[in-house]
Amino acid sequence: MSEKTVVLTDAASNRSTALPVVTGTLGDPAFDIGKLNKDTGYFTYDPGFMSTAATKSAVTFIDGDQGILLYRGYPIEQLAKHSNFLEVAYLLINGELPKADEFAKFDHEVTHHTMMRESLKNFFQGFHYDAHPMAMCMAAVGSLAAFYHDSLDINDPAQRKLAAIRLIAKMPTIAAAAYRYSIGWPIRYPRNNLEYCSRFLHMMFEVPSEPLQISPVAAKALDLLFILHADHEQNASTSTVRLVGSTGANPYACVAAGIAALWGPAHGGANEAVLKMLAEIGDAKNVSKAVERAKDKNSGFRLMGFGHRVYKNFDPRATIIREMCHKVLGELGVNDPLLDVAMELEQAALKDSYFVERKLYPNVDFYSGIIYKALGIPTEMFTVMFAIARTAGWVAHWLEQHETLDAKIGRPRQIYIGAPNRDYVDPAKR
Ligand code: CMC
Repeated sequence: MSEKTVVLTDAASNRSTALPVVTGTLGDPAFDIGKLNKDTGYFTYDPGFMSTAATKSAVTFIDGDQGILLYRGYPIEQLAKHSNFLEVAYLLINGELPKADEFAKFDHEVTHHTMMRESLKNFFQGFHYDAHPMAMCMAAVGSLAAFYHDSLDINDPAQRKLAAIRLIAKMPTIAAAAYRYSIGWPIRYPRNNLEYCSRFLHMMFEVPSEPLQISPVAAKALDLLFILHADHEQNASTSTVRLVGSTGANPYACVAAGIAALWGPAHGGANEAVLKMLAEIGDAKNVSKAVERAKDKNSGFRLMGFGHRVYKNFDPRATIIREMCHKVLGELGVNDPLLDVAMELEQAALKDSYFVERKLYPNVDFYSGIIYKALGIPTEMFTVMFAIARTAGWVAHWLEQHETLDAKIGRPRQIYIGAPNRDYVDPAKR
């Protein structure tokens, strides 16, 4: 907390308050408005949290104007080049890159918590075959609390860590099970001799009739996508995890709530929506029509994969994914006409004054779907892929929240616009 304060006075009532200025290590300073209402009788009104920091956090930093993303201080470009998803998960949770023995221990712990209970496997049978995998994953993750009720003491740091490991370990198992159930294939057990992403691809695609060779190119591409999606500070789903966490709810309930928030097309659901949109556009020659439609506010259509609440410059993740997209498709020998549509759309939007003026650039979801498609992941699973990766960020924030001593229940206020006080009317007189 800095010494600086900003004094706010209401001239009408002559009530005033001194708002302390809060500064972090990077980023804009903020006013601490905690005493505003008590001192002046005013609240603040900020729908969509355009100017409100809900917490202090040391996990991730974004500079939306400069296009900078740091996990625990490390630039995303460096992590994408040199690290791997599990190491990034360790970094997000623990704050530092692991030494070799620390990583080996973490890898061992995650690998040995990947199984799900047989009775949890049975839950999938209760869904209709065409249930969306996000619905199944949300339900399965929430249900984990029913299996681990002996280790749900959120005041015990060891139990909190165990829950974090379990969530990171079991998400791919649950995700693959949701997919296998939806196509009528037997659910696969995790293979401990494979690393995190290969293990997931094995659970997704192995068939009983023949052995499966996991492509190292596919595993590497998936690992990179997971690194890029692992955390993004106080986005809607992470804020949801923290809000639910602030009530003292168990970690599985918190992460299930995060999955629900991620599902929406304005958030993680955008990657599925991008691919559907590209398929609908169908050909590069139809791009200009799509751009015109996106500019027409009455059309109800937006360019999915474009725009971001924080990035008003290129999303650094999109830059990495764009490059990777060409490389991965080339290495896998996939020729996808949707990539041509995507490139044409990107160019058309970047030249159009509507998108330029509003600083709408491709975001992380714009090219990721094309890569997932090349890896054989079906469109309905795209947001699930995002959820697997983001689980690392969700648990890092949940752990941080519970390590903070002055954590308060999240409880926004409102501007009431309903009817003023009135008397009950007897049914016969309405
Ligand atoms: N296509 C067309 N117009 C857009 C788009 C778009 N994709 N995004 C924003 N706009 C316009 C919007 O209509 C508004 O115009 P005006 O000022 O004339 O009213 C202006 O740009 C500002 O938009 P906003 O909705 O006020 O901005 P926001 O910060 O509240 O929303 C967003 C950010 C990501 C929800 C929005 O850009 C969007 O809906 N994008 C498409 C969905 C998408 O790709 N989401 C993934 C986000 S990145 C990954 C993640 O977070 O999960």
